[in-house]
Amino acid sequence: MKLLSFFIIIKVTFVADCANILYLSNVASPSHFIWCKSILNALHENGHNVTALSGDVEKSKPNLTYLHLDKMYSEIYNGTMDIDFFEYGKLSPTGLFKLYAEISEKSCVGATKSKGYKELLNYPSNFKFDAVIIDFTMGPCMYSFVDKFKYPPLISVSPYFDLARLARTSSGLIYPAFVPGHDLLMTQRMNFIQRLESSITHAIGIIAFKYYIVPTNDKIARKYQPEIPYLEDIERRTGFYLINNSPLVDYKEPIYSNVKLVGGVQIKESKPLPYELKAIADNATNGLILFSLGTNVRSDKLGSERISKILRVFKRHSKFTFLWKFETSELLKNIPQNVKIQPWMPQNDILAHPNTKLFMAHCGLLGVQEAVWHGVPILGFPVFGDQHQNCFRLKDLGVSEKLSILDFTEEELYNAIKNMIQNPKYMKKIKSISSATRDRQQTPLEEAVYWIEWYIRHPEVDLQGPGLEMNIFVRHSFDVFAFVFIIAFIIFYWKIKLFWAFIKYFCLSKKSVDEKQKKN
Ligand SMILES: *[C@@H]1O[C@H](CO)[C@@H](O)[C@H](O)[C@H]1NC(C)=O
Ligand SMILES: *[C@@H]1O[C@H](CO)[C@@H](O)[C@H](O)[C@H]1NC(C)=O
Ligand SMILES: *[C@@H]1O[C@H](CO)[C@@H](O)[C@H](O)[C@H]1NC(C)=O
Ligand SMILES: *[C@@H]1O[C@H](CO)[C@@H](O)[C@H](O)[C@H]1NC(C)=O
Repeated sequence: MKLLSFFIIIKVTFVADCANILYLSNVASPSHFIWCKSILNALHENGHNVTALSGDVEKSKPNLTYLHLDKMYSEIYNGTMDIDFFEYGKLSPTGLFKLYAEISEKSCVGATKSKGYKELLNYPSNFKFDAVIIDFTMGPCMYSFVDKFKYPPLISVSPYFDLARLARTSSGLIYPAFVPGHDLLMTQRMNFIQRLESSITHAIGIIAFKYYIVPTNDKIARKYQPEIPYLEDIERRTGFYLINNSPLVDYKEPIYSNVKLVGGVQIKESKPLPYELKAIADNATNGLILFSLGTNVRSDKLGSERISKILRVFKRHSKFTFLWKFETSELLKNIPQNVKIQPWMPQNDILAHPNTKLFMAHCGLLGVQEAVWHGVPILGFPVFGDQHQNCFRLKDLGVSEKLSILDFTEEELYNAIKNMIQNPKYMKKIKSISSATRDRQQTPLEEAVYWIEWYIRHPEVDLQGPGLEMNIFVRHSFDVFAFVFIIAFIIFYWKIKLFWAFIKYFCLSKKSVDEKQKKN
């Protein structure tokens, strides 16, 4: 008996030990790639053969093959990569959704035109993949391949934290009453007007997907694979979701059992800093401050006026040392002694340094997660997209302050830095969240890999349940509410009728008695 179970374990581990895994993504975002790549590399290191079709690629190596969606970025940005994210930052939540729908369509068009797409289409249909992992953040374009490869276990992932998006394809629900809609700057305690706005925003998202984004993606993918079922029906076969959501920082909401929150898979064990940076950081005993606006927003787009304003403030804070990730140093004149500028910074390792007291950042999700992991308060300069909401949540948690990147004043910046370093409340709060976040049995990355391998070993399991088969009224029990309401109404109505009948009866009979008495 013992021997038998031993053999079963060996066999089971073997199946997951060298699986053929297909990764698909038509998301044009280097930061999405950083997140997904962490998982791909970990799977590869665990001995799996990974094939990745993506707009961002690296050099292929044995058992990690990249197929390039080479036309995707250029299709979206019309041949130029010179994007003004500050302009995007001025869009309203509805404007952002319009932009999202547009990019979703263009990224699907660009993907299907690409060399890598055709290469994967030319794989024989009987090529066996043991699992497919899809970054679904930009819409369902890539799900057509799940049909081509005969429905291997399907895992949908998103480096974006939003769980409301899953309601379309999983049994989870949307909770507009306490989870604010896409990009709204609201806490989870909303008044009636805010809840109305939240519901409308969620509804716009659902309608946009149902009537625009999914049909458009479906039409484009169908040109190349005409026999596929409707893309959303394929997407709904997702067995597992891995979402970049950290419950201690993001909105609190109920999740379904096939959704795993693995916020922070990109965070690596910190390494010692390179020699020069290490000397600077070790010497900055009064406080080291890192300033970075991430990969999308280039600091040189800030304009010379803002740049010199920032440098003046840094100079006035001469006690502190500033590290500024800045792409082109030609623009910079008169760099103060306490400022070090470099086109690239080992952000994770700097945040891990004990002298680091503040992170001046655009509040991109990945950077925020690193700061939380290492326990560094954030002075936010949100620029576009979810950055505003990320910053808003952090401020609400008490670990962050926010300044407008477009029109902050010199005094505002000077005081914000001073206040955030002098007042210990920010550091105390983020250290407590940090230690709770790190106090776990597996790192987020180990957890992500574990669930992927678990699902490859048990492809037959169903954690989804029947929620998706139900229509919206049944699923939300609206029909039950309606029934109860009607019964209650009928009872109430009859009660009122009876009440009036009694009143009439008694009053009338009293009257007639009175009249009779009068006559007598
Ligand atoms: C690649 O994976 C196969 C099994 O999928 C394995 O036999 C082979 O040793 C791997 N090669 C390398 C270089 O890791
Ligand atoms: C590994 O993946 C590559 C790329 O998809 C494929 O060509 C190769 O046949 C796979 N290896 C095995 C052992 O399946
Ligand atoms: C894209 O670029 C072409 C030529 O460079 C130009 O004619 C066209 O108007 C551009 N389209 C958009 C949407 O910017
Ligand atoms: C270390 O910091 C002090 C002032 O805090 C400065 O005078 C000195 O030059 C710094 N040394 C290095 C190697 O940066």
